[in-house]
Amino acid sequence: MAVDLLLGLQWGDEGKGKIVDVLTKNYDIIARFQGGPNAGHTLEFDGIKHVLHTIPSGIFHKNATNIVGNGVVIDPVIFKKELDALKKFNLDIKSILLISRKAHLILPTHRLLDAASEASKGKAKIGSTLKGIGPTYMDKTGRNGMRIGDLELDNWKEKYRALANKHEAMIDFYNVDIQYDLKELEEQFCNAVEELKQLTFIDSEEYLYQAQKQGKKILAEGAQGSLLDIDFGTYPYVTSSNTTAAGACTGLGVAPNQIGDVKGIFKAYATRVGSGPFPTELFDEVGETMGRVGNEFGATTGRPRRCGWLDLVALKYAVRVNGVTELMMMKGDVLSGFKTLKVATAYTYKGKEIMHLPYNIEAENVSPVYKEMDGWAEDLTQMTKVEEFPKALNNYIDFLEKELEVPIKIVSVGPDRTQTIHR
Ligand code: GDP
Ligand code: IMO
Ligand code: MG
Repeated sequence: MAVDLLLGLQWGDEGKGKIVDVLTKNYDIIARFQGGPNAGHTLEFDGIKHVLHTIPSGIFHKNATNIVGNGVVIDPVIFKKELDALKKFNLDIKSILLISRKAHLILPTHRLLDAASEASKGKAKIGSTLKGIGPTYMDKTGRNGMRIGDLELDNWKEKYRALANKHEAMIDFYNVDIQYDLKELEEQFCNAVEELKQLTFIDSEEYLYQAQKQGKKILAEGAQGSLLDIDFGTYPYVTSSNTTAAGACTGLGVAPNQIGDVKGIFKAYATRVGSGPFPTELFDEVGETMGRVGNEFGATTGRPRRCGWLDLVALKYAVRVNGVTELMMMKGDVLSGFKTLKVATAYTYKGKEIMHLPYNIEAENVSPVYKEMDGWAEDLTQMTKVEEFPKALNNYIDFLEKELEVPIKIVSVGPDRTQTIHR
């Protein structure tokens, strides 16, 4: 049985959490493959809004097992908070949530190093979520990291101490003013580790291999978005993992020839939180309206998201890098009421018109070439079938499908589970 992927195609926050929740009824296993608590995946159902950071978005369904894969980085303190928030739902967490022994641990000092690194960069800061993501993946690739499996060893605290001591020296090296009480942070960490150890740790690549053999249906849930990919994103303003399709292979141990559908998810416009280039960004009342109507505030940090028009140059790039086989368009409802919509179809780059994403997409190098389209006035949020769509929305969807050469299978018209229209 092939493993399907669900990936964000922009700068994150496309609505992955909502769609994974909607699709879980069709799957036996939902597996997160990269990122960590920098993610904020929002689900809404029965009048409840829930934000998940590390736990896969299939957690509310009785039919599915949720796996935190080896490619994920876990902060026990944040994980414990997530578990606490789930308590009222009476879920049998020990059996429906399994954690890879090979997933790496975010230490309190990783978070401090993230803050020190950002402070030392001044204006050039990445705008990271300050969750310790960069330093933890640095220790992973530097072969110094601590993994979930280490917590099963009697001497895990010695390993922890050695790594934390090294981090303290590194924090001093940055020579920036960061206040912290490491004793208190460590106490929190150790308490959270004890709670984490009550959960089920597995060799997830073996588990997934056997599950596949038994014909189980598996959906891999991405975090962040393709333009935040460490290799293919807007480097250095990216996250520290491969958010693209290949990341699912390394982050779960699934072979490339076992990948089935690649579901790519995008907003009908574009947003970005944190620093870095964003060619179609709007600084006027149109962008302000998108942010207000779309409630564009980071699910993890609460920061306002920057808003702009849909960028087809960037979206085509993401479709190619991931091998997307079907698309999902989110938040079409937010565009209701704009008389004219714009979509970037090319960039002017060094005086020439280009159709691909160049190495430098900073504002001084690139300016978008827009196609204008009629907007729609109708409120989409109560619609339940494609037949109700206004003509201008159909034109918008048809145009995107033609340009991207991939069908748009789902149109989302609101944050709730039920506001999801299949085409
Ligand atoms: P994720 O990180 O990709 O899971 O996305 P986030 O949860 O960070 O951000 C998406 C936001 O948009 C959340 O607040 C969702 O509840 C909301 N949302 C998802 N789909 C829609 C939609 O179709 N319309 C509207 N208005 N909001 C949506
Ligand atoms: P989800 O899964 C949006 C951004 C940060 C920053 C950059 C690096 O909810 O879509 P990091 O903390 O990873 O070192 O930050 O990446 N970023 C996200 N933006 N959605 C996310 O996740 C993000 N995770 C990280 O704002 O610009
Ligand atoms: Mg998010």
